[in-house]
Amino acid sequence: MTLRLILALALWAGCSPCSEGKVALSLPKVQCQAPRYPMAVDCSWKLPSAPDPTRTTFFIASYSLGMSAPRDSRPCLQPSPAAARCSITGLRLFSAEPYVLNVTAVRPGGASSSFLPFVAENIIKPDPPGAVELRPLPGQRLQVQWQPPRSWPFPDLFSLKYRIRYKRHGATRFRQVGPMEAMSFTFRAVRPHAKYCVQVSAQDFMDYGEASDWSLPQTVGCPSPS
Ligand SMILES: *[C@@H]1O[C@H](CO)[C@@H](O)[C@H](O)[C@H]1NC(C)=O
Repeated sequence: MTLRLILALALWAGCSPCSEGKVALSLPKVQCQAPRYPMAVDCSWKLPSAPDPTRTTFFIASYSLGMSAPRDSRPCLQPSPAAARCSITGLRLFSAEPYVLNVTAVRPGGASSSFLPFVAENIIKPDPPGAVELRPLPGQRLQVQWQPPRSWPFPDLFSLKYRIRYKRHGATRFRQVGPMEAMSFTFRAVRPHAKYCVQVSAQDFMDYGEASDWSLPQTVGCPSPS
């Protein structure tokens, strides 16, 4: 049922410009993520064809909960009408119905709408952990410590778990440890004077969504972020 509605909406969105007998307008390509769950979902979009800079495009972004009640749509807050991003706050958590975002690009040639259904929990992707620090300890040990990402609002209520990847400078492959709840880890029997690249990634404790990118390189031998 829900799938069929999504399909109908997608078809409707794809065909509304052509049915007016005008040149088809490109649809905004929309994506949403929740790096600050449960505070907000952050969405952004692009128009596939570069907009003509002499003509202004603005966007109307709105959302509803569930597929059947467009009258209950609310604005997805944009910093300005020309901004290609918006945020949904006041989320209903663990909703049985998906959110549906409607992004309408308004141009001199007409308007075109894209729809993106999503469930907030499924698009959780924390930012990488912060304050990653390496500290040599006596006895050929190396300790790594970190903090939850600063953008993650309630680490005590919505726990994160962490994975570490590490590599000795000059080695080709990373090894991984975790997932773990702790925010520090001690490597034993490290080679004296060797340099290690150590990076940490965060994921929702209940496995919703996806893991963060790896934290920024802290030491020599880490690959540059892609
Ligand atoms: C999407 O938003 C546009 C602009 O507000 C509106 O005209 C259109 O009716 C909306 N579509 C749906 C299916 O809610």
